[in-house]
Amino acid sequence: MTKKRQFERSIETSDIKNFPPGENAPADCRGVLNIPAVFISSSPEETFAIGENFSNLLEKCSIAAFFGPLGSGKTCFIKGIARGLGIAEEITSPTFGIILEYSGTLKNGNSVKVYHIDAYRLRGNDDFYAIGGEEAVFGNGISIIEWSENIPDFIAPHAFRIEIEIKSADKRLIRIYGGQPPMEHK
Ligand SMILES: Nc1ncnc2c1ncn2[C@@H]1O[C@H](COP(=O)(O)OP(=O)(O)OP(=O)(O)O)[C@@H](O)[C@H]1O
Ligand SMILES: [Mg+2]
Repeated sequence: MTKKRQFERSIETSDIKNFPPGENAPADCRGVLNIPAVFISSSPEETFAIGENFSNLLEKCSIAAFFGPLGSGKTCFIKGIARGLGIAEEITSPTFGIILEYSGTLKNGNSVKVYHIDAYRLRGNDDFYAIGGEEAVFGNGISIIEWSENIPDFIAPHAFRIEIEIKSADKRLIRIYGGQPPMEHK
């Protein structure tokens, strides 16, 4: 049974504009939000649903870079993305693996590699280069990154930025940005 949920604003594909790809991005990368989308989530289920909705914007070469403190709901959002991309496996935190690889399906039916990266334990870009991060993030797959601030080299200009703020035990403020140059942050 599908429940229809009302968000402050839903993401429409009309928000997508083509911009020149980031310097490091393969030439056929495209797909960024024209304007930031802002949501208030009142439960893990809502955050999951926002993630599932957001997954419609992803295509090969997309990067979804998450920013937000411990327990803010990054993985919860990513589980929604995984559902949207038809990934059947349970998404777990890749803390020990650092990069976990899944196989997803895009809207057009094409399959796509999906990399879930947790950079929490990385001390910087070099750590990530050393474990083959470049191959994952700048390949043809979709990269989803938690603790993005630890590997700034990999947050290419075309990346989506998803910022999650904890407002109370159950409320989260979620901002999704994409664009080139990156939007201003308060
Ligand atoms: N509105 C909400 N959205 C998401 N999670 C919520 C919400 N309200 C409460 N929570 C709780 O917050 C926690 C979020 O956990 P999650 O693992 O997704 O966070 P995280 O940002 O990935 O943390 P970490 O940095 O440790 O990886 C869960 O325990 C979840 O039940
Ligand atoms: Mg997490």
